[in-house]
Amino acid sequence: TDLDHIRNFSIVAHIDHGKSTLADRLIQLTGTVAARDMKAQMLDSMDIERERGITIKANTVRIEYPAKDGQTYILNLIDTPGHVDFAYEVSRSMRAVEGSLLVVDASQGVEAQTLANVYQAIDAGHEIVPVLNKIDLPAADPDAVKANIEDVIGIDASDAIPISAKTGLGIPEVLEAIVHRLPPPKGDRNAPLKAMLVDSWYDPYLGVVVMIRVMDGIVRKGDRIKMMQTGAVYGIDKLAVLKPQMVDIPELGPGEIGVFTASIKQVRDTRVGDTITHEKKPCAAPLPGFKPAQPVVFCGLFPVDAADFEALRDAIEKLALNDASFSYEMETSAALGFGFRCGFLGLLHLEVVRDRLEREYDLDLITTAPSVVFKIYMRDGEVRELHNPADMPDLTYVDHIEEPRIKATIMVPDDYLGDVLKLCQDRRGIQLDLTYAGSRAMVVYDLPLAEVVFDFYDRLKSVTKGYASFDYQLSEYREDRLVKMSILVNDEPVDALSIMVHADRAETRGRAMVEKLKELIPRHMFKIPIQAAIGGRVIARETLSAMRKDVTAKCYGGDATRKKKLLEKQKAGKKKMRQFGKVEIPQSAFISALKMD
Ligand code: GTP
Repeated sequence: TDLDHIRNFSIVAHIDHGKSTLADRLIQLTGTVAARDMKAQMLDSMDIERERGITIKANTVRIEYPAKDGQTYILNLIDTPGHVDFAYEVSRSMRAVEGSLLVVDASQGVEAQTLANVYQAIDAGHEIVPVLNKIDLPAADPDAVKANIEDVIGIDASDAIPISAKTGLGIPEVLEAIVHRLPPPKGDRNAPLKAMLVDSWYDPYLGVVVMIRVMDGIVRKGDRIKMMQTGAVYGIDKLAVLKPQMVDIPELGPGEIGVFTASIKQVRDTRVGDTITHEKKPCAAPLPGFKPAQPVVFCGLFPVDAADFEALRDAIEKLALNDASFSYEMETSAALGFGFRCGFLGLLHLEVVRDRLEREYDLDLITTAPSVVFKIYMRDGEVRELHNPADMPDLTYVDHIEEPRIKATIMVPDDYLGDVLKLCQDRRGIQLDLTYAGSRAMVVYDLPLAEVVFDFYDRLKSVTKGYASFDYQLSEYREDRLVKMSILVNDEPVDALSIMVHADRAETRGRAMVEKLKELIPRHMFKIPIQAAIGGRVIARETLSAMRKDVTAKCYGGDATRKKKLLEKQKAGKKKMRQFGKVEIPQSAFISALKMD
């Protein structure tokens, strides 16, 4: 296809503003999928995405559109993940297209993720077509939202297209705008092959499928290609475009987007952002700006039943084959036994992986509190990355500690601003900016990531009744007075409950934790001291008093089956417990103890 007849674009939007519904409409209206095959949210392929209504993996579709000018155009839509955890994937897929539809809910206006995503699009040099969705809603106020887009984002919204992705109103105008307002791609057919690896996933029938955008040159079925970052060479077995099901194609030229398979064993062997070229006639230089996705949040995953360790290892290995951004290594905890220390791109990513392990592999897991990567500067000049507070070296060898900071943008109706500021302040935030657009405030904070990974988002939602939106970017590592706090139950340290905290907050946090644990740990036959300590110094202490009654006492001796049932019930309950010396701690304690309220 010649370049003038190709348009590549993505859709940027805040969650729930209607990105998937619009994509479905575009596909439907152009007859890309026969009506009977149309299922809602065609592009969200994984079950878990469908259930949670979030798009995790970038996906794409090639649409053939006969425009009003009598010409047929190829429109390639790349569906980008909307969540901050996957910001790196978003930024790469943005570089594979030339334009974006900016979808804003006309009853809501611009939200934090709208901003984050549209700035990525602007950074990638996109032409942007604003689209006001949900104008069928009585609360829709397209003019106000146009002004809102101009105010907050600073782009011209005068010819924003009013649509209803639900009823189909305005969809033909969107298609025309894609053709006439977005630029065609550029590229040289005769240059050596240069293509960007945009995404990859595992298909149970085909193995690893790699999605690429060709920049220069031509790739054909059977070609020997090389991945420039990894150096690996493969022969292309299958070359196809997504409509959205795979349709074989003999070649892909500049500006085109498609997929190939090449007997690649694991998704791990493919790096998003890598440059693909021909083995024999490579391009001179790879595409700029490649960086592998780095895990920023770590936690321990342990089987509730120690006998499930092998099953957990198996499941983690299988999952990892398909998710290069997830890291793991074996970990032993005095408290929890054998498990894995796992690294994730963010909290949502963590939750998704844990859910999949529990659901798809039927495992019962204990998740320890999420922690960020601290940089420990040792006195001898060595710099260590601390993934697990339990591994904190002895303080006498430590010079100073740095923690990751983020730049967080929060958009919230005026009424809740006070609560949001207080929350950010409580989490050691430094206010950078505060502006208003209509009755909504936009506040920018510099926050320690460690204070956000835990329950910040939940707290934010609850203090604003769900009206706030939030987004963040990692900014830098900065020194602060951080200490490791240990928890001792019955005088034994429980390593899985150790956390890194700011020195000024250690006492408050410590007291809160021991109080919570006192509630969470059931009574035993003996008295249990619960303590929080920094180094050898106890900073908070509670005592759980001994249990008085024997549980079987109420069975009045006689009824043996009833007694047996009761004991069995207790035993089943025990599976969710962990034994520490003489004390049993329920698995829920490992997360609940850290919740701050
Ligand atoms: P994520 O995939 O979760 O990021 O969300 P999304 O932006 O793709 O939103 P989605 O298309 O899933 O739409 C969110 C909700 O808004 C769904 O319940 C849709 O049915 C609804 N919706 C989408 N477009 C319209 C519209 O034009 N009018 C109305 N009334 N509802 C709409």
